[in-house]
Parts: sequence; structure tokens; C-alpha cells
Amino acid sequence: MSRVALVTGGTRGIGKAISLALKNAGYQVAANYFGNVEAAKKFTEETGIPAYRFDVSNFSECQAGVKVVAGDLGPIEIVVNNAGITRDAPLHKMSYEQWEQVIHTNLTSCFNMARSVIDTMRDMGFGRIVNIGSLNGQAGQYGQVNYAAAKSGIHGFTKALAQEGAAKGITVNAIAPGYVDTEMVLAVPAEVLKKIVAKIPAGRLGHAEDIARGVLFLVADDADFITGSTISINGGHHMY
Ligand code: CAA
Repeated sequence: MSRVALVTGGTRGIGKAISLALKNAGYQVAANYFGNVEAAKKFTEETGIPAYRFDVSNFSECQAGVKVVAGDLGPIEIVVNNAGITRDAPLHKMSYEQWEQVIHTNLTSCFNMARSVIDTMRDMGFGRIVNIGSLNGQAGQYGQVNYAAAKSGIHGFTKALAQEGAAKGITVNAIAPGYVDTEMVLAVPAEVLKKIVAKIPAGRLGHAEDIARGVLFLVADDADFITGSTISINGGHHMY
């Protein structure tokens, strides 16, 4: 049987490309979503990949969601923590809610998901966890103290859990995408985005498929010696 993978935020943007790449490589894929019900419906119709609605910022919803997916497809062997939001504002204009939403959705979600699958992965002696960080967690970004803190936290989370998982066949890695042509990035004001793209040596925004390629590499069975690492996929924008 092919391995079971769960991708959070897996029906749109980078997550959609990851779900599809995993399916095309022969994995059994479950895509989580929360906000956009219409997009998830369309995604399942188009791809045949089942979509599961739960809020990754909520621990008990993650535990319940993982149970349902495992009941449908089998024990989850691969988790891609991709779900994320932005609530950009300079700190002097940022509300506590903007801070809290981003920290819980982007960072606490990694705990919620990993904690919900880790016991089974340890019992199986196999697991692959890939956390989607960000260039902006590595380098910082004006208007993103919340997002940069959460994404930077993901990189620390990855290295700590990698140490815990290594002896149990569980690898934990991160990918740090740069600016990718998803709805999230295209929401950045055009004149700001133009200045950002001018700083990318590759001369273009990334595509979601550029990130999915990295995930496929990290989840492979024979990637078992790669753990605690971060792969930057950013067109040379920032070399960490
Ligand atoms: N560095 C220094 N100063 C900057 C700046 C920057 N990068 N960006 C804006 N400023 C300055 C402006 O020049 C302006 O200065 P003055 O008042 O002296 O003219 C001041 O900050 C206010 O700028 P705005 O009028 O733009 O302020 P705002 O409150 O309306 O908007 C903002 C601020 C929401 C942060 C807006 O600048 C913005 O959206 N920036 C882009 C943030 C960004 O890159 N987000 C990434 C989203 S995609 C993503 O996160 C995915 C990923 O992982 C890569």
C-alpha cells in the first residue's frame, strides 16, 4: 500500500500543488482546509483528493481530524504543515488579534498536528514531517513581526523535533519558500511587490510547483538520513 500523507491548507496555493505532486507520485493524499469551502469542493472535484475541514489552530479539532483521516485512509505517515495566513501591518498598527491569529494558525498548528500523529509514527517506526517556513522567517520582513516570528518559530520547532524523531525513523524538515505567485503574495500591494521581485536574482516569483518539488524530495523513503534541515526555495532571494 502507498503511504498516507496529510497536507494542511492542502486545497489552495502551495498546499494544492503539494497535494497534487504527492498524488501524482503515488501517495494516498488527504488535504485539510478550513476557510474556503467552495475552493475545497472544486479541488476535490478536479483532483479526486478528499478534503477534510478542520481548524489547524485548534488542538482538539486537529486530533479529531487526524482520527477521521486515519479511519478513511490508514495511519498517517507523512504530514506537511503548510496552512498559513498573513495579517500584515507594522507593529505600531498591529492589533493583538492580528498577532494571535498568525501565531496560532502558522505555528501552534505545527504542534497541534505533530502532537496528533507523533505517537502513531513512533509506534510505526516511520514518519515524515515537513513544515513550510518562509524566507520571511529567516530574514524578517517589514510589516510581518507576527508572520516572521511564527515562521522563525517553525524553523526552531523543526530542529528540536528532528532530534526527538531521529532514532524512531521520523524525519522532520522545513522548506523556506520565497515569494511564490499565490493569492497570498499577489495580495501584497503592487508597488511593494514590484520592489520585492526586483530583489530576486532569478527575476521571477516562484511557482507553487517549485515548492512541491522540495516536499517530494524530503518525504521519500530513501530521504531517511535528511532531518532537521531547511531547504530554501526562493530564486536566490536570500541565502541562509
Ligand atoms: N522597508 C522600509 N520601510 C517600508 C517598507 C520596507 N520594506 N515597506 C513600507 N515601508 C514604509 C513606507 O515607505 C512608508 O513610509 P513613509 O510613511 O515614511 O512614507 C511606511 O512604511 C508606511 O508604509 P505603508 O503606507 O505601506 O503602510 P501601511 O500600514 O499601509 O502598510 C504594510 C504596511 C501592510 C506592511 C505594507 O507595506 C505591505 O503590505 N508590505 C508587504 C509586506 C509583505 O511583504 N508581506 C509578505 C506577504 S507574502 C508572504 O508572507 C509569503 C511568504 O512567506 C514570502
